[in-house]
Amino acid sequence: MINRRKFIQASALGSMSFAFNKESGCKSKLTPLKGKPLVISTWDAGLRANKAAWEVLKNGGKAIDAVEKGVMVTEAEQNCCVGLGANPDRDGFVTLDACIMDENFNCGSVAFLERIKHPISVARRVMEKTPHVMLVGIGAQQFAVAEGFPLEEQKLSPDAQKSYDNWLKNSTYKPPAINIESKQGHGPFAPYKLDNGEWNHDTIGMVAMDINGNLSGSCTTSGAGFKMRGRIGDSPIIGAGLFVDNEIGACTATGQGEDVIRIAGSHTVVELMRQGFLPEEACKKAIERIVKIKGDKAKDIQVAFLAVNKRGEVGAFAIHKGFSYAIKNGEKEELVKSKSLME
Ligand code: GLY
Repeated sequence: MINRRKFIQASALGSMSFAFNKESGCKSKLTPLKGKPLVISTWDAGLRANKAAWEVLKNGGKAIDAVEKGVMVTEAEQNCCVGLGANPDRDGFVTLDACIMDENFNCGSVAFLERIKHPISVARRVMEKTPHVMLVGIGAQQFAVAEGFPLEEQKLSPDAQKSYDNWLKNSTYKPPAINIESKQGHGPFAPYKLDNGEWNHDTIGMVAMDINGNLSGSCTTSGAGFKMRGRIGDSPIIGAGLFVDNEIGACTATGQGEDVIRIAGSHTVVELMRQGFLPEEACKKAIERIVKIKGDKAKDIQVAFLAVNKRGEVGAFAIHKGFSYAIKNGEKEELVKSKSLME
């Protein structure tokens, strides 16, 4: 039974969020949003993805269509960390994770999906055509094929092939514990540190607000390079890699998926915005929570959150410097360097 103290705390929290919701639900009291529609996405690949999303948004299209079309661009690019040409797992297989969420809490997700070019579109079909939220592995692939998605041949991009060959040279096959950095090659971390000290990107997460002020999000990745077979990160997990609450805002995550899952990262950021924190503050608080949990080990991992609130205010925060996000609205199109806790 709920005790009196807990009840008072719960009521106080409830009325705080009600006051905030009431304001954000009332159009006349909203700060005018000059930037609407708006699309934001993680890393520099987001610049190209945003362009495709913008084609939908500028014509009055829905945010859910924009976030699907946007990240499909990145899925089709041959890069290290998203799509069929990306870094494989330890056995040499590229396995893909993706999720999508609209303004009505509808969501769909696929994980451990092989040989399908556009996992984000399969995630959308899961959302729209099944009573489920998440399909994984062979079942997800069978569903995709039944829905008319072609089964592709896996072909690693030249960069991914090179990285994998290098990794095989120096790494024993025996999987190390996921939270211990491998001294051999890039280890299980995503994103990983490049030789120049920058962090390489991993996931594309995207959030859009359409002309009607509705929010949707998408997130897609091949996950950590050279991961154990069957490993799934935060990206396909609603509440971890992505969360959308149309009354409050939306958030997506990139980086070490295990540590995003640990704090239900994107959901946490949205709940912090519900309490009244601006997007950047909310992202920072979530990052601080991870760093507190990880202690010294935080120096070896990168996590970043990117969020927008219902007023169209955007913010991000990362553990380490080097994370950037792309933003596009009717006034600007740019890559923004995120603030971070550590240099
Ligand atoms: N954030 C991507 C992953 O950890 O799989």
